[in-house]
Amino acid sequence: MSAELDTATLMKKQVGEAAAARVQSGSIVGLGTGSTAAFMIQSLGNRLKSGELKDIKGITTSFQGEVLARENGIPLTTLNEVDHIDIAIDGADEVDPQKNLIKGGGAAHFQEKLVAAFARQFIVIVDSSKLVNKLNLGFLLPVEVVPKALNPVSKAIEQLGGKPQLRMAVKKSGPVVTDQGNLILDVKFENGIDNPAELEKTLNNIPGVLENGLFVGLTDLVLVGEVVDGKPVIREI
Ligand code: A5P
Repeated sequence: MSAELDTATLMKKQVGEAAAARVQSGSIVGLGTGSTAAFMIQSLGNRLKSGELKDIKGITTSFQGEVLARENGIPLTTLNEVDHIDIAIDGADEVDPQKNLIKGGGAAHFQEKLVAAFARQFIVIVDSSKLVNKLNLGFLLPVEVVPKALNPVSKAIEQLGGKPQLRMAVKKSGPVVTDQGNLILDVKFENGIDNPAELEKTLNNIPGVLENGLFVGLTDLVLVGEVVDGKPVIREI
């Protein structure tokens, strides 16, 4: 493992733990997906085991989260069984200065958006490499598409000026299949995304699109892990 990777991992762990520390006993908690959210789930499990935290219920956003939550002893519930979520905590692939996000690097953005939108407070946890001035200049925008609609949706996205590419699986022949049984188009807009709010709606209006990875106006707080003078610190945005 390189020294650089060590630092990035340390930052993810720190923000994961800092976010978990904000969860109060008795809460219903949205559990995000990805490597940063995994640290948060572990930390919640540790707080439960030590007795410092009691009586929480988690709502997962992916198969990965479900496995991790069970491994860490977090009791689970579902969106259909609750009338609110107190707090949801999740990672992101890009965060802009307005706290708009690109998510879906793990193809989990459909469930992640459901949970974030339903939560009273949505906290985003990232290392400093995720902060950008404009979305989509670096990270491609994930769009979840029903398999039967792959070609028409690709054409519609091209008409909007985007370049879609089908996300292919690793260690499995063929494309990535989401937890909902759909496909992912990763989309590049040449000059980045000028109006995330408008594009989020426009993409979701294309028949055959389940959800895109733009999260606009949902984030209440961003916890950023960064290294200052060789030491990891956490900044709030
Ligand atoms: C999952 O689909 C994503 O939205 C993740 O939350 C995002 O990719 C961040 O993941 P990392 O914390 O692993 O970078």
